[in-house]
Amino acid sequence: MSDGALVLGIETSCDETGVGIVRGTTLLANAVASSVEEHARFGGVVPEVASRAHLDAMVPAIRRALDDASVTWRDVDAIAVTAGPGLAGALLVGVAAAKAYSIALGKPLYGVNHLSAHVAVDVLEHGPLPEPCVALLVSGGHSSLLLVSDLTRDVRPLGATVDDAAGEAFDKVARVLGLPFPGGPHIDRVAGDGDAALVSFPRGKADDGTLDFSFSGLKTAVARWVEARERAGLPIPVADVAASFQEAVVDVLTTKAIVACRSHGVDYLLIGGGVAANSRLRALAEQRCAAAGIRLRVPRPGLCTDNGAMVAALGALLVEAGRPASSLDLPADSSLPITEVLV
Ligand code: KG4
Ligand code: ZN
Repeated sequence: MSDGALVLGIETSCDETGVGIVRGTTLLANAVASSVEEHARFGGVVPEVASRAHLDAMVPAIRRALDDASVTWRDVDAIAVTAGPGLAGALLVGVAAAKAYSIALGKPLYGVNHLSAHVAVDVLEHGPLPEPCVALLVSGGHSSLLLVSDLTRDVRPLGATVDDAAGEAFDKVARVLGLPFPGGPHIDRVAGDGDAALVSFPRGKADDGTLDFSFSGLKTAVARWVEARERAGLPIPVADVAASFQEAVVDVLTTKAIVACRSHGVDYLLIGGGVAANSRLRALAEQRCAAAGIRLRVPRPGLCTDNGAMVAALGALLVEAGRPASSLDLPADSSLPITEVLV
């Protein structure tokens, strides 16, 4: 058996009930139950529906993770749980479950930051994090550039979106194009057959000298373009519009990520979060990092979207670093700042 603490991680910040088990940096189980289909007809995640789904899925997901890892609760050294940021009611289900297991079984509890966990998950695939590194974190709720000097205690925000998150823009543009929710994977799929040069959509804040992002103008530009075509009675070239939109997003993301590495003298870029599953983002980042002499790390797509293994991975890093466990009155904090890795 490999070294390291055996940590069970619980994730319930949005619509995925995730329970993962790791030993140190080795992934043993990653059970994910998603309520996404219950939200699809509303075109977005409905918080109350997500909370109820977490309640139903929690115990079966824990059982499945323990079975998949071939361990019992007795073997578990520590429990980690997403304490924020996320949907308040959804977070509460995970935090309450983690506290109950912690108290009943006498295991230490680590309330961790969801965004840091999206970075930590990469250790399960590519080994210890190169520090310092720049992390580009792109999900449904966040788009940030971070300077990670020590993931367990020193994460500094360099820039963030001033309006929509990248994933949110994917989801909204997908709706405009008549694609199902969540839109990111659908845009990724249809864009594969599209012409990314058909429309040159705006690259928000591309040349403003900051490391911030803006995607709301882009989303509006796509909607206006589609409306104009409809008014003219012309068909919508969905694949081409999807590809052109996607190109605008990944162009700005990769450009600014490389500027962040250069201006902080950092040789490593790590990309995490649901949008990191995007095939064009992965390909363009690969190409641009190679040209800039920057080493790129991106977890496999299945570890980019929300899961419990990422929470367990961060928990194991915190145990390894000797950080004290959270107190049992730890709150679920829907707007937990990125600088707070451990609550
Ligand atoms: O990290 P995540 O699973 O949940 C949050 O923490 O928000 O990210 C979900 C977001 C959604 O907006 C979804 O559309 C987007 O990630 N996403 C993608 C892809 N897969 C998921 N966006 C673009 N391309 C993808 N392949
Ligand atoms: Zn996430």
